[in-house]
Amino acid sequence: MSFDVERLLRGEVRDLPVYSPGRSPEEVARELGIPDCVKMASNENPLGPSPLAVEAVREALRSAHLYPDARCLRLREALSERLGVGVDRILVTHGADEAFDLLAYAFLERGDRVVVGDPTFSSYELAARTMGAEVVKVPLRDYRQDVPAMLRAVEGRTKMVVLCSPLNPTGTTVSAEELEEALSGLPEDVLLVLDEAYLEYVDDPGHPDSLRYFAADPRMVITRTFSKIYGLAGLRVGYALCSPPVREALEKVKLPFNVNRLAQAAAEAALRDEAHLERSREMNRRGKQALYRVLEECGLSYVPTQANFILVRNGEHPDLFMQLLRRGIIVRDGAALGIPGHVRITIGDEEQNRRLEAALRDICGGG
Ligand SMILES: Cc1ncc(COP(=O)(O)O)c(C=O)c1O
Repeated sequence: MSFDVERLLRGEVRDLPVYSPGRSPEEVARELGIPDCVKMASNENPLGPSPLAVEAVREALRSAHLYPDARCLRLREALSERLGVGVDRILVTHGADEAFDLLAYAFLERGDRVVVGDPTFSSYELAARTMGAEVVKVPLRDYRQDVPAMLRAVEGRTKMVVLCSPLNPTGTTVSAEELEEALSGLPEDVLLVLDEAYLEYVDDPGHPDSLRYFAADPRMVITRTFSKIYGLAGLRVGYALCSPPVREALEKVKLPFNVNRLAQAAAEAALRDEAHLERSREMNRRGKQALYRVLEECGLSYVPTQANFILVRNGEHPDLFMQLLRRGIIVRDGAALGIPGHVRITIGDEEQNRRLEAALRDICGGG
């Protein structure tokens, strides 16, 4: 039988790369024979989930035979109260990733354009290209999204501009002036998607309060997640804040039960656990300062970050990624993230940071 899947596939899908999540410790152990690796590559919370979330999942398991709430009402109400945003403006999603897919399904078709930074988080491009839209990539300036250049790239077929703040993979943010410039410079019928997956880590007091702008502008869509500081990446839950007509459009294309019962319960509990949030924030703050010092002592330059990861320049160590891997530290190679000559390192807990420090000092001859 000569089955030719290429003839069946849509052209857009044929040309699409498969998302690469980076290597797991198990893979590294199998392929390179290095046991006991630490993974500092996916910007997860090294503290783990909130104990309240774990308890809520245990409880929710008893009802695993029942479909989850398709509208995620309790979680939306909790978010509404926390954020001061109406429930009719909140859509809970299967990770923030699903929000990018839903935006693409609902709004994009062949010939449409989406403007993004270059590099930026890859899911925006995958979602847009799946629908046949063209992705216009605007190079960063000084590791920051170049908002004026992104606005200049907007033309007749542009349906969306995506800003990510803090930006993955550099950890830089969009300023209040830039956000205002984006909103005042965008045509009325273009969506501004602002991905704030790492918002809770930001410690720059000048960082804009996006909700203030969101309240006044129906073009704005804000995406957030429980995968990062809330430590629930494995349960897949995030949310989009959007104007009611946009939410209704997204609801039409989402799966009916897109967020499972355990994820809804965990997210609702995690939202209540202020202490866990603060511990996670503090651990990251301390780890960041410690890592800055180690990098400086090792002669490695880096981009100051507002997130839970740091972009480090390879400098005199072009194979820094492999050298770390051989020492049992998995980070992300910049080449795979569209920023060759760098590695992106997730800030870990004390033990992980210590192992990273020892590896860096070994590589750089810093003692
Ligand atoms: C900038 C950014 N947005 C969104 C996501 C996806 O988050 P989720 O796990 O909620 O799909 C990530 C995950 O790494 C990310 O870095």
